[in-house]
Amino acid sequence: MRGLAMLGAGLLVAGSVAFAQDADLARRQAEAAAAMAERVEEETVLAEGEGRAETFAYCTVCHNTALIRRSAFSRDRWDELMDWMAEKHGMNPIEGEFRQAIVDYLAAHYGPRQQGPRGGNPFLN
Ligand code: HEC
Repeated sequence: MRGLAMLGAGLLVAGSVAFAQDADLARRQAEAAAAMAERVEEETVLAEGEGRAETFAYCTVCHNTALIRRSAFSRDRWDELMDWMAEKHGMNPIEGEFRQAIVDYLAAHYGPRQQGPRGGNPFLN
């Protein structure tokens, strides 16, 4: 009888472990879905300007635009970043006019913060 009770308890424990694993899996799947959904952005999250379409298309293959929008780099730094992204992170290298269009766009819209109505507030970028 005692053996049966132990068996029952054992089954109960095993059952709740399985349930906890299911819940954990469900939570992780939900998190993954949310992270993917966040990647689905419209081009208009980037500042309007020449080169935006190219930048959006080329730069959102691996990450969303949050990394771009939080950055405030000089033209030189953006230019260097193109090489860094290619060498370190496997981005297809970009050269020539296409590169210039993207770097110009980034420098113009995501350059060192200027004092303005937004006062350089990083949360309003
Ligand atoms: C092949 C994949 C890939 C592509 C395409 C790509 N990136 Fe990245 N990028 C990365 C990875 C990986 C990181 C590093 C993320 C981390 O730090 O965890 C990164 C980081 C960044 C950062 C953060 C740098 C810092 O120091 O804060 C910026 C800004 C950025 N990318 C901009 C761009 C721009 C602009 C483009 C388009 C020209 C681009 N990325 C295209 C993979 C890519």
